[in-house]
Amino acid sequence: MTGTELTHGTEWWRTAVIYQIYPRSFADANGDGMGDLAGISARLPQLKDLGIDAIWLSPFYTSPQRDAGYDVSDYCDVDPLFGTLDDFEVLQRTAHDLGIRVIVDIVPNHSSSAHGWFQAALAAGPGSDERARYTFRDGKGQNGELPPNNWESVFGGLAWTRTTDSDGTPGQWYLHLFDSSQPDFDWDSEWVREQFRAVLRFWLDRGVDGFRVDVAHGMIKAPGLPDYTPPAEGGSMGGAPASALEPGITAETPLTAPYWAQDGVHEIYRDWHKVLAAYPGDRVLAAEAWVDPLSQMAKWVRPDEMHQAFNFAYLETPWNAARLKAVIDESLEAFGNVGAPSTWVLSNHDVVRHASRLALTGENLQGHGIGPKTVGLPDTALGLRRAKAASALMLSLPGSSYLYQGEELGLPEAVDLPDHAREDPTWFRTNGERYGRDGCRVPIPWEAASESFGFSTGAKSWLPQPAEWAGLARDQQDGVAGSTLELYKHALTLRREHSLASGTVEWIDGFGPEVAAYRNGDVTVVANTGAASVQLPAGDVLLSSEELVGRTLPGDATAWLRSVEA
Ligand code: GLC
Repeated sequence: MTGTELTHGTEWWRTAVIYQIYPRSFADANGDGMGDLAGISARLPQLKDLGIDAIWLSPFYTSPQRDAGYDVSDYCDVDPLFGTLDDFEVLQRTAHDLGIRVIVDIVPNHSSSAHGWFQAALAAGPGSDERARYTFRDGKGQNGELPPNNWESVFGGLAWTRTTDSDGTPGQWYLHLFDSSQPDFDWDSEWVREQFRAVLRFWLDRGVDGFRVDVAHGMIKAPGLPDYTPPAEGGSMGGAPASALEPGITAETPLTAPYWAQDGVHEIYRDWHKVLAAYPGDRVLAAEAWVDPLSQMAKWVRPDEMHQAFNFAYLETPWNAARLKAVIDESLEAFGNVGAPSTWVLSNHDVVRHASRLALTGENLQGHGIGPKTVGLPDTALGLRRAKAASALMLSLPGSSYLYQGEELGLPEAVDLPDHAREDPTWFRTNGERYGRDGCRVPIPWEAASESFGFSTGAKSWLPQPAEWAGLARDQQDGVAGSTLELYKHALTLRREHSLASGTVEWIDGFGPEVAAYRNGDVTVVANTGAASVQLPAGDVLLSSEELVGRTLPGDATAWLRSVEA
């Protein structure tokens, strides 16, 4: 697409590159140190220049910001921190004029405890209709002093908080799979379902191109809310199902967490599918569903449900050729079986940035963050090499890719954040045992010589930016051969020119166990995950994540070549 017109009826999302904007940390137009919608609008031409097709905006709705905006207190308004509904209109119009589509976040598993609905539930008391909209239960024990079950919050600690009745005595408990400021809805309530249909329509009426659905594997809980102890190796967001072989797992233990991936969620998405289908254009639902294996996750993108699901199995795959080949095959098969495109993703606002993650030598610390005391901190140069190579592989794959702001600059995780600056509830709920996600949320650098590296019109940035990021600022990379930014731009141009996103994967053997090589139409991709260099096959080199020595691809590098007919 050349730019200014958005074509409809094309199922654009099947091949799109979607760029995640984290509004708090993208660009700050009013100088308060917190990113905002006007800041985003002003920077959109630079995203056009990068070559993306759509943006996904993390929440900018009214919120006490206890979980960085994933605690929504009004789903149909903009938090003054980020601007106004008019600012949103401007942002969307600017994006659409540039040929960029706009996806917004929706957070249906829970609201903020400050939401009027929850406040009304507290006020109305046990047994009321208002309470039936959330997950309130009486406690166990003689006086209800024990939580209703043993569930733990994803952010650490109990998943239940006890309320206090109007006369000051302890009352019922409410469920919060996340922070205590994020009470879970009860999706058995038709009233809740109707409210969310209305929220979807509110944004669809304003012209959004779709929704990224937060915790799309949550929402429905197993009847009776049975006790559950998650497997030691599973992520707290779900993923690995409990293995019957694990110590402590008995015949009675449910193998899937009773709060994740319950069958009832699919009915909700079939309903939402219909809501979107009533609007012109190709509006899209993208699931954040941490479900293993991929064949299960693919249920979220059956033809009458959502359109895309984030491929977290791919994100969690180490930089290893055999593992990558396996997950790529599995993804194409699982999503292909239901007629959906695969997605690919390496970073987002919840995980350690891949420029650090891919060179971590310690245990798997995905969702828990890294910080100064983490064992096995990455070698930054190696991390960046691997990140460039991994991104070059990802952007060659058929399907849709998600980018997270700053990865096109090769930003690493900010490891040395001072304790007092941290905001992630995970940090507080685990007494600093888990660093949480602040390290991937630091405001991004635009101009090396400006205060706050051009993130803000002022000097402040809500999380401090590492001094070394001056060298990674966009203006230091723009037009500079060999920079990470130019690699991304070039990859996105070639991806379009060679229709890679609608192509296929044909593996090529013969490069040894540390290389994943394949052919996608007229392009051959060689990803070398080992340290030793490999000889490239015949064909003009189109792109390389590292400088080549003759026709030799160094270790931890990826190259694209024009395929030569055998
Ligand atoms: C999702 C969001 C994450 C948030 C959580 C609770 O996982 O991506 O940032 O903390 O949901 O809403």
